[in-house]
Formats: sequence, structure tokens, C-alpha cells
Amino acid sequence: QENTMSVSSQLQKLGQPIYYKGVKYPPINSLVSIELAESFEVRDDDVFIAAYCKSGTTWTQQIVSLVCADGDISEVSKVPLMVRSPWFETLDLQTGEPVPKLLEKAPLSSPRLIKIHLPYNMLPQQVKDGKGKIIYCARNVKDVVVSWHNMRRIVHGLPCGTWEENFKEFMTPEEAYFGFWWDVVPEFWRHKDDKNMLFIKYEDIKRDLRGHVVKIANFLGKTLSDERIDEVVANCTFSSMKENPATNMSRNPLMQKIASKAEGSGIEFMRKGEVGDWKNWFSQEENETLEAIHKEKMAGLDLTFQFE
Ligand code: A3P
Repeated sequence: QENTMSVSSQLQKLGQPIYYKGVKYPPINSLVSIELAESFEVRDDDVFIAAYCKSGTTWTQQIVSLVCADGDISEVSKVPLMVRSPWFETLDLQTGEPVPKLLEKAPLSSPRLIKIHLPYNMLPQQVKDGKGKIIYCARNVKDVVVSWHNMRRIVHGLPCGTWEENFKEFMTPEEAYFGFWWDVVPEFWRHKDDKNMLFIKYEDIKRDLRGHVVKIANFLGKTLSDERIDEVVANCTFSSMKENPATNMSRNPLMQKIASKAEGSGIEFMRKGEVGDWKNWFSQEENETLEAIHKEKMAGLDLTFQFE
């Protein structure tokens, strides 16, 4: 607890983004951890849960986590999801150790469930060579911008401007955190048929949660009874994940301090969980700017998103 508090007070003091190979990362990431990615020793049963930020990473982590625990929520809720499935590019909240170093050590439950926001070219080489499994979750870019803006309002160590400033930054390739969405997401799409990759979309999970639980279980080689699948589904709805302190860091004593900026009071990590919230944020001009870029960059790609 003490260490967590000191990490959280450190985060409050942080403010400078990190740059690695031309990509900008938020100060809550660690350059050391990012640098360790490429040569990271992958295990055959590793599951990387990859996404651009605010695209359904936590949701996918919870599904994977439950599927791997055969639907047993009591098992999964013993530790916060962020501890159970740590974020590769960070320092461990409790020890301050780079997460990749922590992952190297036992005892970590097997399989290791690893959250990662790096662009494809920066993934561990062994993953790109087909070792381990990777589940990539993509979300329509308009809702991503909105969700990211709101996340920055609540998390210490995430610099936050006004909505207009954050929007502009997102739309600028050199300025966007985690890389430019239109570079990063299409690159994963190009690898969607790699034998160790499952590519899913937030909006599709929203439409058919059960179907995605089954799809993920199949991909991981797990066979769950109908009752167990029902259990997973029941514990992966937005309302259950919002109520669950293991998944909603705004309700977790261990994490609360990190996601508690005064500016964002009243906003929770599990915020809205809807498709189309962008309509409450975008000006007409912003919408036109984004749509023009989207049209140009996605031309020729059979990757489409539901925006409404
Ligand atoms: P909103 O801010 O639009 O509510 P990530 O985990 O990649 O950071 O993505 C966070 C987004 O996923 C948030 O979006 C969050 O509410 C949403 N989310 C998380 N769990 C969800 C669920 N079970 N159903 C729908 N949306 C969910």
C-alpha cells in the first residue's frame, strides 16, 4: 500500500511524455519497459491483449481472464485486473520494477495475460514470429478520442488539455500518444490473419458479447460449458465491470489514488461503455476534419467501424 502511494505521488509530479523510435508515450509508461519489449522472452502460452488505448483493452482482459479461469469470478476477482494482467510498458505499481522484468519471474499464474499498447513493429520479436497468442481489440476512432480525453481528466501523470487541444493532438501524427491511430490500427489489421492473432472490434463485442466469449475461448483452445460461458458473460457486462472493484479502478482502493484528479471528479474508469458518445463531444468541424483523414487513410482497407 505504501509503495503504491509513493508511485501515485510520483505520478502526480510527472508530466513529460516519453519518446521511443518516434512514438510518443504518456509519462505513466516507462522507457525501460518499452525498450525491453523487442527482445522479451515469450512463452508458448502467453496471451498478449493488445489495443490502441481506450479501445476495449480492459474488457478483453476481463473476458480472457475469466475464460482462462473457466468462468470462476471468485478466482478472477481476488486481485485487481491490472495486477492479474499487467500493462507491459509500465512499472509495477507495487514494486516499481519494470513490468517485463516482473513477468520474467515466477510465480506468475500461467498463462501470463499481458496488456500492451505498443505499435505492431515494437512488439516482442518472438510474438511477431508466431510465438504466444495475441488478441487485438480495435474500436471506432471517434469514440477512442473521447474516451482518451476523459481518461486524461482522471489519471494523475496523464497530461490533459481542453477537449479541443486533446483532439488536435490526437489528429497530429507526431503528437498523438501511442502513435497515430491511422498508422497503428491498420498495421495490426494487416496482420489479422497471422496464425497467432485474433482481431476483434469493440462494437462487435458490444453487439454480441457471448459470441465473442466463445470466439476467444476457441482461439485460446479452451472448452467451456454453456453455464460457464454464461458466467463469463455475466461478469463482463459494463454494469458488472463497473460494480467490480477488480475491474473498475475508480472503485479499487489500490488504484483509486491514481485515477482521482480533481478535474475529473465524478468520472469513473468504467465511464460510459457506449458506441457513439463522440456525438456529444465533436463539433461539426472536428467531425469533418476526422472524417476526411479517415477516408483518406482507410482507403483500400477492408477495415470498417460502426460509429453510431
Ligand atoms: P468509455 O470511456 O467510452 O466508457 P480501455 O480498457 O482500452 O482503456 O478502454 C476503455 C473503454 O472501454 C471505456 O470506454 C470503458 O468504459 C469501455 N469498457 C470497459 N469495459 C466495458 C464493457 N464491459 N462494456 C462496454 N465498454 C466497456
